[in-house]
Amino acid sequence: MAAEKVNDQERDNPEMVALREEALAALSKAASLAELEEARVAFLGRKGKLTSLLQGIKDLPPQDRRRAGMMANRLKGWLEQAIDEREKELRRMELEAGLRGERLDVTLPGRHVTYGSRHLISSIIEEIEDIFIAMGYRVAEGPEVELDYYNFEALNTPEWHPSKSLQDTFYVDASAVGREDVLLRTHTSPVQIRVMESTSPPLYVIAPGKAYRHDVPDATHSPMFHQVEGLAVDERISLADLKGTLEFFAKRMFGEDRAVRFRPHFFPFTEPSAEVDVSCIICGGKGCRVCKGTGWLEILGAGMVDPNVFGYVGYDAERYSGFAFGMGVDRIAMLKYGVPDIRYLFDNDLRLLAQF
Ligand code: DAH
Repeated sequence: MAAEKVNDQERDNPEMVALREEALAALSKAASLAELEEARVAFLGRKGKLTSLLQGIKDLPPQDRRRAGMMANRLKGWLEQAIDEREKELRRMELEAGLRGERLDVTLPGRHVTYGSRHLISSIIEEIEDIFIAMGYRVAEGPEVELDYYNFEALNTPEWHPSKSLQDTFYVDASAVGREDVLLRTHTSPVQIRVMESTSPPLYVIAPGKAYRHDVPDATHSPMFHQVEGLAVDERISLADLKGTLEFFAKRMFGEDRAVRFRPHFFPFTEPSAEVDVSCIICGGKGCRVCKGTGWLEILGAGMVDPNVFGYVGYDAERYSGFAFGMGVDRIAMLKYGVPDIRYLFDNDLRLLAQF
């Protein structure tokens, strides 16, 4: 190290030899970077020992100054280098100590990460979407806060229809929105109107989403629930297409040996209309507790689009015909997985949610 070289040349200067020895001792005693800094200041700082010695040179007799100056500067260079080396050494020691402390035992078992899961309703909606997308349908969405026009009027639902009453529909406070015809949609059917307004036939669309009704919650009713709407409009669409489509859907969704049954019904926006049953997914049609002994489960409403509805959206009812359907997703989830109470689906109890 530099120390040896300097040694020879300074043999005749006891003061510098002593200073060098002292500095060497201080450096090797410094056990941390902070202590090393203290030592540096003690020798090289503004009032440090070597600094004072350098300052004292100008007071020496002129003939001694040059030699003393050279030696003192060489000592300074040596000391700076020695501090540098000690600093590197201390840093390496600190790093090694740190690594020793943080040593990793790779044989320990890992920490378990808990993943969330998809909500049952979301997975059922996705399942339904997949089946219809495979038949060439696309997915559309519409607003949950709707206008009376889309929810009722353009769906051919007369002013006096009971579903428009305050007992059945949530209306948005007129003073808050400045008009009286804003409501929470009571079904996903208004998306039919919105899609037809913005596209021309042919169209094949499904529209999943939330709907709201002024119902008191119980095991089979919830003021918020889910539907998937379907709409097909094209030339020469017939009831046979509706039956074929729903039969295909029922088999895909509930199993190959499901049968589908149409019961005549009334909806303002379809004519003719039907309620559609699927043979019981639990007993296969023999009759059980879930189908209440009938062998059938009602899963949706459907029908041929009423020409009046085409009138609202400016479609040519002479040229085009179509069918529509709407199914209850929550009901399908409950039937398929035996969930006994619709409220279980919405109270966010992880014991229920984690099962699917
Ligand atoms: N919107 C109806 C309901 O909520 C269900 C429905 C019936 C939808 C017949 C349709 C349809 O598209 O054609 O009860």
